[in-house]
Amino acid sequence: MSVHDTVVVGAGVTGLVAAWRLSQAGQDVLVLEARDRVGGRLRSELHDGSLFEIGGQWVSPDQDALTGLLDELGLQTYLRHREGASLYVDSGGGARRFTGEDLPVAADTAAAIERLIKGLDALTAEIDPDRPWDHPDAERLDHVTFQQWLQDNCDDVEARDNIALYVGQAMLTKPTWSFSALQALLMAASAGSFRHLVDADFILDRRVVGGLASVPLELAGRLGDRVRLGQDVTAVDYSDEGATVVVGPERIRARRVVIAVPPPLVRRIRFMPELPASHRHAREHQSFGLVIKVQVGFTTPFWREIGLSGTGFGPYQLVHEVYDNTPDGSTSGQLVGFISGEDADRVGALSDDERRAEVLESFAAYLGEAARTPVTYVESDWQHQELTGGAYGTSFDVGGLTRYGRVLRQPVGPIEFGTSDVAGLGFQHVDGAVRVGAEIAHRVLTSRDAP
Ligand code: FDA
Repeated sequence: MSVHDTVVVGAGVTGLVAAWRLSQAGQDVLVLEARDRVGGRLRSELHDGSLFEIGGQWVSPDQDALTGLLDELGLQTYLRHREGASLYVDSGGGARRFTGEDLPVAADTAAAIERLIKGLDALTAEIDPDRPWDHPDAERLDHVTFQQWLQDNCDDVEARDNIALYVGQAMLTKPTWSFSALQALLMAASAGSFRHLVDADFILDRRVVGGLASVPLELAGRLGDRVRLGQDVTAVDYSDEGATVVVGPERIRARRVVIAVPPPLVRRIRFMPELPASHRHAREHQSFGLVIKVQVGFTTPFWREIGLSGTGFGPYQLVHEVYDNTPDGSTSGQLVGFISGEDADRVGALSDDERRAEVLESFAAYLGEAARTPVTYVESDWQHQELTGGAYGTSFDVGGLTRYGRVLRQPVGPIEFGTSDVAGLGFQHVDGAVRVGAEIAHRVLTSRDAP
């Protein structure tokens, strides 16, 4: 039986950062990853000679844990293409050009949007992203759906639909009736403010040369043979003296174990003794959202020639947001669009050809007929992968944050738990994975039984 200081289960960014920090501190670490690759929700693919980022890709300026790591790893970034006019597709399907952040809606609607943003910004400023349940009004905010909160605070339907888009479709990727106002505020607090969420030029500011998946690849490269692929951990036997991790016929002994897998996947692992019931309940109330990321490639970025940035928003469109996703330096053109929540449920049940036709029709609503005939069409597939299960991340159902939120980061004996899904700052983002990985490593190194 091999013996290590710490075994890390899961080679996403959280697990790899934890392992890298522990090994920098001199620990003997082993990372066990079930897939045949590292990176978890970060992965790049080549299609027709171009790089496509299938999972996470954008970096925003407030994400200083991630930008610090990018510097440390020597990875370069570039600005997302944004020159030109953006488009807003209204409920009648008409596309209108605009520049700046203000949507081209009626003056009353614009004023209602601004009032909602100001109100949400004020509430967000009161929320500690690491402890949203400590807000004096946390329970009330966690017991009302975000949909209801919007209805209670705004009479303008189009204003509500746009604010719902920024948090529901675009971030938590769930219908706004399925999560609480407090969960929406946590999403905003984790990004610094509500206004940040509505500012695409801020929240989707930069990309990494070679793709964001270069982060886990670089970390794994440094860890070398301390990362083992194809190791689906099925059981952890633990006591105060340490743990035995079971992978197939093998048993690996460690003083500490880090379970760096998304909360719903912790159930795939059998713990002996069983985890406290509160842990099981907490994770049963945290579920993945669903978004289908679709990328289409063209021989040229044709929209740029007609003064468009490629950015578009359409709260009533199947593809609710669209961006120019052309990698820096490429002469071809790429667009990315997202289909989320119940729309994703519906088109997910169609045949591939039917779904593609609907998706391209929606791209065309923004960018015209030329958008119907891409040379490359790539859909992300996270909902079909048992080792993820959805996208972008997980969030609580109504009331879950105040009832269970504090449990998710609690260690049990020698076992630590965490992914970006339990982050405060950087919640559901790679920045959060970097923070959670570093925090876990710190706790392991400073605990009483640290080697
Ligand atoms: P992650 O899920 O990546 O890693 C967990 C690992 O554990 C996986 O490798 C899995 O295979 C492994 N595992 C599970 N069970 C196991 C077991 N029993 N034994 C061994 N291994 C096991 N973020 C961002 O910052 N900017 C963005 O633009 C986006 N956009 C985006 C788009 C899409 C489509 C997705 C899916 C996600 C994003 N994100 C994002 C979110 C971001 O990708 C995500 O927050 C982090 O990559 C999560 O990293 P973690 O390491 O926390 O979990």
